[in-house]
Amino acid sequence: HQRVDSSSLVPTNDPTLLFTNAGMVQFKDTFLGSEKRPYTRAATSQKVMRVSGKHNDLEEVGPSKRHHTFFEMLGNFSFGDYFKLEAMQYAWELLTVVYQLPKDRLAVTIYEKDDESYDLWVNKVGVDPRRIARLGAKNNFWQMAETGPCGPNTEIHWDKYPERGEETIIQSLEQDDDRFLEIWNLVFMQFNRTQADPTHSGAFDEPLPSPGVDTGMGLERITNILQQGETNYDTDLFTPIIQKTRQLTQHDDATFAEQWVAYRVIADHIRSAVFMIADGVLPGPKGRDSVCRLILRRAIRFGTKLGFTEPFLAQVADTVIEIMGTHYTELVDKADSIKRAITKEERLFFATVERGLEALDEILTKLQADGQQVLDGETAFFLKATLGLPIQVTKDI
Ligand code: SER
Repeated sequence: HQRVDSSSLVPTNDPTLLFTNAGMVQFKDTFLGSEKRPYTRAATSQKVMRVSGKHNDLEEVGPSKRHHTFFEMLGNFSFGDYFKLEAMQYAWELLTVVYQLPKDRLAVTIYEKDDESYDLWVNKVGVDPRRIARLGAKNNFWQMAETGPCGPNTEIHWDKYPERGEETIIQSLEQDDDRFLEIWNLVFMQFNRTQADPTHSGAFDEPLPSPGVDTGMGLERITNILQQGETNYDTDLFTPIIQKTRQLTQHDDATFAEQWVAYRVIADHIRSAVFMIADGVLPGPKGRDSVCRLILRRAIRFGTKLGFTEPFLAQVADTVIEIMGTHYTELVDKADSIKRAITKEERLFFATVERGLEALDEILTKLQADGQQVLDGETAFFLKATLGLPIQVTKDI
């Protein structure tokens, strides 16, 4: 495979996407046949964001052990070169031989109509049929966006609780309960979807000129498994960031343990913000910029829960730049402007919140004087729309 650099978080010339949301985005035209590359196999570690459109994990971040707004997706690709069997064999070999994960901790899902993949997993790779679940299009048919390259996929999952027994593996995969962690998605790119098709009728799927393979494995998840952490945040991708925040708060063990959601949100969001700004997305009111603003403000808001009352994120950003900058050198080159943009947004936020809080304070005092208990929606809306006080802050208070 040709090793190819990650492309920017901002997709070039692609109006169907706000952010690069998968490794295959930079190869979209190669799959569609309109771009020729000097290789037919590639491997990447791609910067991706999942905060908008078809793949949006924002609300999960914090409570979830395994969702992120920004993450690194490892992938191998075939453009009209190898197909299903080799993709499965490569993935299985990396996981079970190179990483030495025990086979009895792995299970797979396939698209319900994909008998070929079932046969290959069982008869060529040697996976026990009790470890293979057939699922519908929602889980096992991959689309980058409403239109564009797509195809059936097969996923490899990690069994966190093997003690629950082999008999219930398929059931757990079907129910998507807490037992399995999806680690690797192998997509068999076969079609170009020309129109949105919510029922997956297939009526608008045209065969691709050179069907291929697109795989994606979250670096954070595989690191979690290999470092045997309880969550993705217990890996060396995140602990330095969390430790840095804690250094600033000086929280004791009890407070730190109580505030884990806030620590995780900040760790996740600061990575996003640093990488977005490095790729030219600055906090602002519209489009991509508004996503950068939303993420930064969410981080700041959780920072206020930890007791911060003035800008602190640039210091946390330093740690991100330090641990990620050896590979992503753009972070080091742009360190100063990244930190300046972050601090500017924080100042703006604190000023806004202050104004909004004063108004809220007056309103609450008046409510109390009138013997009332409920702040009505209209007032909350006024605080948000006119004074810019985030609804979540009003709710918290
Ligand atoms: N494109 C697929 C995904 O994002 C596999 O890389 O999951």
